[in-house]
Amino acid sequence: MMFWDQPVLGIETSCDETAAAVVVGRQVLSNVIASQVDIHAKWGGVIPEVAARQHVESILPVIQEALTQARIVRPAAISVTDRPGLVGALSVGVSAAKALAKVWGIPMVGVHHLEGHLLSPWGDPDLRQEIDFPLLSLIVSGGHTELVMSGQPGEYQHLGGTIDDAAGEAFDKGARLLGLGYPGGKAIQNAAESGDPKRYDLPRALPDDPHNFSFSGLKTAVLRLVQIHGSNLNINDAAASLQAAIVDVLVKKTVATAELFNLKTVCLVGGVSANKPLRTQLDAECIRRGISLFVPPFDLCTDNAAMIALAGSFRINRGETTSFDVEPKPNAPLPGMIEAR
Ligand code: KG4
Ligand code: ZN
Repeated sequence: MMFWDQPVLGIETSCDETAAAVVVGRQVLSNVIASQVDIHAKWGGVIPEVAARQHVESILPVIQEALTQARIVRPAAISVTDRPGLVGALSVGVSAAKALAKVWGIPMVGVHHLEGHLLSPWGDPDLRQEIDFPLLSLIVSGGHTELVMSGQPGEYQHLGGTIDDAAGEAFDKGARLLGLGYPGGKAIQNAAESGDPKRYDLPRALPDDPHNFSFSGLKTAVLRLVQIHGSNLNINDAAASLQAAIVDVLVKKTVATAELFNLKTVCLVGGVSANKPLRTQLDAECIRRGISLFVPPFDLCTDNAAMIALAGSFRINRGETTSFDVEPKPNAPLPGMIEAR
């Protein structure tokens, strides 16, 4: 049993989603998200001050809604993202967690945002098979592109990652250059559906390095496309070519790393794991090599509180709780995440 059998309320406010959720074991009873995307879209990105203020407005209604949907009056514990993220944004979730845990007389546990993403595949209601260790996780989000090996639950070894931009950033910056708006991943995916991925030649960086990525050259290459072709640039073809360049490298390096370490289980997590071509292409390559691939359902890919509740449930089940004087930490590595290259 990896998770606690009591209801855990999860709270996530590390960036631009105010989210609350309830899980019991690995079962997700509710998963409520108040997205700030429309507000930040106006500015083309997240403004920390604006994000924090929105969290303050949304946090209590979102928590109330998560409890109501789960038909829970008082959870047995609270799990909250306390690291890493925007400090003002994190503070809102952490303060709410402390106050509610004190009032209800229940324990709280502060969890790492990335551990939430890493455990998100367990929240899949259609999961029919054990997720066996050791395993390799590819975390792809707006801030991260990391290959992480887990010998056993809760143990993380960093094998490599991006040396500059994250994969989600490459989608977002590319979308902005192509005039497709923010956030860019879904917009690129939609435009790419009717585009030709071979139309424009975009770079695949660090071809001989199995665990490290570089995506900053892509934004320069897309900028050049825009400058050279001007209004003749076919946006759908450019989006398809950009998506292919990102997905190709992610798939190739993930399976290469799995083979190198002889890992038979792979998890694909983080906001970019919502990308359909990435899911299908990684699935095909894993099947070919006898690797089991686990990907969370769409509502557990981008930031959400169900994954935070799962991470808390996992930690509490091991007897770990956090004291009420905990402060949010804007920068903090994953627990036990040692680099091995
Ligand atoms: O995990 P997440 O919600 O937030 C962070 O922790 O960063 O990831 C957000 C990222 C954004 O860069 C967004 O463009 C990307 O995930 N994303 C996608 C898709 N949906 C979200 N990228 C590609 N295809 C998608 N369908
Ligand atoms: Zn995230």
